[in-house]
Amino acid sequence: MADFDPQILNEPRIAPPEEFQKRARVRSLEEYQEQYDRAAADPEGFWLEKADLVEWFTRPVKTLEWDEPFAKWFVGGKLNVSYNCLDRHLTHRANKPALLWEGEDGKTAEITYAELHGLVCRFANVLLSLDVKAGDCVAIYMPMIPELLVALLACARIGAVHNVVFGGFSAPALADRINDAGAKVLVTADGGYRRGRIVPLKEAADAAAEKCPTIKKVVVVRRTGAEVAWKAGRDFWWEDVMNTAARECAAVPFDSEHPLFILYTSGTTGKPKGVLHTCGGYLVQTTWSTQLIFDLREDDVYWCTADIGWVTGHSYVAYGPLSNGATLVMYEGAPDFPQRDRFWQIVEKYKVSILYTSATAVRAWVQWGREWIDKHDLTSLRLLGTVGEPINPAAWKWYFQVIGRGMCPIVDTWWQTETGSIMISPLPGATPTKPGSATLPLPGIAAKVVTLEGLPVKPGETGYLVIERPWPSMLRTIYGDDERYRRDYWSRVPGKYFTGDAAQCDANGYFWVLGRVDDVIKVAGHRLSTMEIESALVSHPSVAEAACVSRPDEIKGEAIVAFVTLRAGQEMSGALRISISDHVATVIGAIARPAEVRVADLLPKTRSGKIMRRLLRELAQKGGISGDTTTLEDISVIEKLSHYKAAADDE
Ligand code: PRX
Repeated sequence: MADFDPQILNEPRIAPPEEFQKRARVRSLEEYQEQYDRAAADPEGFWLEKADLVEWFTRPVKTLEWDEPFAKWFVGGKLNVSYNCLDRHLTHRANKPALLWEGEDGKTAEITYAELHGLVCRFANVLLSLDVKAGDCVAIYMPMIPELLVALLACARIGAVHNVVFGGFSAPALADRINDAGAKVLVTADGGYRRGRIVPLKEAADAAAEKCPTIKKVVVVRRTGAEVAWKAGRDFWWEDVMNTAARECAAVPFDSEHPLFILYTSGTTGKPKGVLHTCGGYLVQTTWSTQLIFDLREDDVYWCTADIGWVTGHSYVAYGPLSNGATLVMYEGAPDFPQRDRFWQIVEKYKVSILYTSATAVRAWVQWGREWIDKHDLTSLRLLGTVGEPINPAAWKWYFQVIGRGMCPIVDTWWQTETGSIMISPLPGATPTKPGSATLPLPGIAAKVVTLEGLPVKPGETGYLVIERPWPSMLRTIYGDDERYRRDYWSRVPGKYFTGDAAQCDANGYFWVLGRVDDVIKVAGHRLSTMEIESALVSHPSVAEAACVSRPDEIKGEAIVAFVTLRAGQEMSGALRISISDHVATVIGAIARPAEVRVADLLPKTRSGKIMRRLLRELAQKGGISGDTTTLEDISVIEKLSHYKAAADDE
């Protein structure tokens, strides 16, 4: 958790830009407050009203069945998520572009709602022909190409549960996720482009499939044309199976609580959690929040830069915007390829009006300098958003002035894989903002900052961020582990959902999210578990013991520092250090590669043998120890570790 400068609480609020406010859906803080109060007084009535934003084949008979910690939302309702994202637009948006896609190599595609509908129906038929049935799981491991969106919606159409694994994860991480979810079919590509190089996804998919007995079929999109290994009978080219598939595929009604997807995220143990979301509540809340927070209009060109492999991509690239009939931009590659103005080229070319990105991206742009921005006409932009980690006020102000010309409101949106949709955020035409604060909870969201006993903390005091009442897009469980679901989220603070974040509220009731209180760290907005990295480290043949902590990083927010002890007879060398880092990248993915690997004879432990991460954190962040070391077993350990830096620099 980063140090928090209480001074920023006193910064003046920035009113929503006037021009924006005039046209906005919600135009004043009073209007927001009125909605918030109305929702608080009758949450079920409020959410039932929001359920009208989607089309139901059978309307729900009851808003919520709550048997803590298990929720059923919009009980008795039947709907089809893909119908809501596609078919319902065909009467009046058939020729509207749903997707403006750009590959890193410059290839482009424009796909209308009618065309997307056709592709999704075909691929739904492909899945059916591969024996995928409602409730079966389909793993998706793809670059950011249109077929990824098609695969998602095709699963939703037939009631298959998708499990998207970010293309940056390695083969073992993919295999773990496939096995946990028991996926039957894997959809992948021959590769994708990243910084001009081909990411060999099929190779990783093959290595994973070898270890996944449940995978019977693999569908492969030809994206790069690279030569790939082939297993006849198991592997099918996308274009082949699509060519022979029927164009019609009726959208079948599914129960509101039918599972929609499993998305793995990191928790406090080494084992990732399969966060389970279901159809009705998730679709209602993503549809509603997209409208409200992005103030979405019919003529907007909306670009959420997240990868669909993360929850932001699920909710705010795919489901929320498509359910609203938006035109979305999707880009395959790196922001600095071929040069550092790729994003601005895209904004200018497609006249992007809404840009939703990560705090890490903003910090990188600050560092790259404004000459990359000044080359381009960004006047199409009318709203900016950030997500994933706290944004420092300086980066916020730069985003506001340099990208937004002081005319675009910024929505700093707080939420989680588990919450399914945005929970705390300004309403762009209503909420005065404070750089660095996600401001106020949305109507219907009972967010509070409390002690572990559940008691409210005073303004300006740090506590735990909790949600006091269930909400429609909440996770339903951790797939296959109801007990872990209960323990992690509903038992830390009795009767409330525990977010794992520390926060403060200020005198205006604004929320300041400070960071995680558990062993989860955020590197470039990607959620990683220190335990997962540690188990990767100790699987290296030279490593005996490992402990990971984070230190602040100017661009990525946090960076990983790994402390390791070596097995007997091993000597640290530059080559070994690289080999250890590479090993983590092979086991989990490049996103988990430690920024530093430090070697110690011993790790600091308490007398009972617990690694003292607090001390390691202090060492990694400040270079020395000032905190309490009285429970430390061997004080000389710290002495030795403190000298590490000089030794590493000498190397
Ligand atoms: O610590 C909070 C941080 O990201 C965590 C959730 O991570 P993940 O499930 O990967 O979802 C990220 C995208 C929704 C939270 O527990 N976080 C997310 N948004 C913000 C944030 N921290 C501060 N400000 C935010 N706007």
